Amino acid sequence: MNTTDGVLDRAKMTAQRKVQSTIPVQQQVRAAHLMDRAKRRLGMSEQLVFSETPIPDAADVPLTELDVSNPFLFRQGKWHSYFRRLRDEAPVHYLADSPFGPFWSITRYEDIRAVDLDPDVFSAEPRIILGHAPINVEMFIAMDPPKHDVQRKAVQGVVAPRNLKEMESLIRERVQEVLDGLPTDRPFDWVERVSKEITARMLATLLDFPYEERHKLPYWSDAISGTAEATGGTTDQDLFYTAIGDLARSFMALWHDKAARRERGETGFDLITLMQSSEDIKDLIHRPLEFLGNLTLLIVGGNDTTRNSMSGSVLALHQNPDQLEKLKANPSLIPNMVSETIRWQTPLAYMRRVAKQDVHFGGQFIRKGDKVVMWYASGNRDERQFEDPDAFVIDRPNARNHMSFGFGVHRCMGNRLAEMQLRILWEEILARFDRIEVIGEPTYVQSNFVKGYESMTVQVTPKA
Ligand code: HEM
Repeated sequence: MNTTDGVLDRAKMTAQRKVQSTIPVQQQVRAAHLMDRAKRRLGMSEQLVFSETPIPDAADVPLTELDVSNPFLFRQGKWHSYFRRLRDEAPVHYLADSPFGPFWSITRYEDIRAVDLDPDVFSAEPRIILGHAPINVEMFIAMDPPKHDVQRKAVQGVVAPRNLKEMESLIRERVQEVLDGLPTDRPFDWVERVSKEITARMLATLLDFPYEERHKLPYWSDAISGTAEATGGTTDQDLFYTAIGDLARSFMALWHDKAARRERGETGFDLITLMQSSEDIKDLIHRPLEFLGNLTLLIVGGNDTTRNSMSGSVLALHQNPDQLEKLKANPSLIPNMVSETIRWQTPLAYMRRVAKQDVHFGGQFIRKGDKVVMWYASGNRDERQFEDPDAFVIDRPNARNHMSFGFGVHRCMGNRLAEMQLRILWEEILARFDRIEVIGEPTYVQSNFVKGYESMTVQVTPKA
């Protein structure tokens, strides 16, 4: 792979787009799947497989070979020292060879911010992950202005303050139901019983997705975002295609059902209704790859992120009992604790860009077409921005300045919703439980993109 990767990617996608816009989405997924299978049978597949081996200490690796794309870096806890070394010694760092090809790493807070705020030079197209996606769906997180702005504008009303206010009591009821159903006499998996469950309920509400089928949403999200080629994950290719095919079928049906309901005069304030009401994207169903891409974005965007912040908050407060006591003594700290959790956890480790032109940046020369990775996980631990950055301090004065939601045109659309979810969760936890003890080590997701937990065994102690 060479440095023109990004440029070739874009040219290939433009050509594919023209052909693909006329073929129904399920057929495209099926065709891509068959092609992929055939390639694998013929031994022509580029499929990556990662097997875990101990990662050497940062100090023992030559600087030019430090690889922060290793999908086990977070799981093995090596990320602190790897990123610290990059921030100190090579804040704009080029890795010439990795399983995902060559890429630049931007690791200091201010540099990341500058890249994120400059979409004219650093493009989010054709995708925001380091590796390759098995199928080239189009989503507005991976589009530049002006196309990005039109599509974002059409759906952002669903998370506008007024709508969030209306959703708050429903979300609270659902959080209460989940917490009230937890066992108090034995340990259980917090990720499965709480974080995943609450997130699935929230997403089903946003999308007006059949509530009884809500568990499909996190299942699809995990399967789609976790292939080895894309992020170093464990989803196998067949599972990926099956999941994206099911998602496409399900949301086509939902789209048509909602369109029929609209014709009968029913109204709604969910994402699909908003799309159907927008002049700009009401025909999205006829643009199959965008239809699929944007729905995938809304499901994946809201899923891992919120889920892992919920689990992260429990772990952080378990590891820092003094902070839990501070919170119990002063629950008005919950909103700041939520920001500190999102900083400390950084549920998405990075966003990737591609340089649109040759550019001098941070003393380095970045060529047109080079991949540039903004490591939010590092920026959030930058000593130049946050005092004692690895500590979890619920009243940290600048916790809200974290970079987990990004900056600029792509700044997370669901940030207020995510914060509200976490705030409600902790208001309800404090009303019920004295403490939540994490038993043993959580298991971590294998990924260089999602920084999160597969499972976390806990025991809750009800309030006396
Ligand atoms: C964009 C993180 C929750 C929907 C993003 C970006 C990040 C991010 C890093 C890209 C920012 C950039 O490129 O500058 C997070 C985190 C969350 C969270 C850490 C929770 C703690 C949510 C939720 C939703 C959501 C609940 C559901 C609506 C989106 C969308 C975009 C986005 C649609 C694309 C925005 C655009 O391109 O204009 N998020 N997110 N996110 N997020 Fe979130």
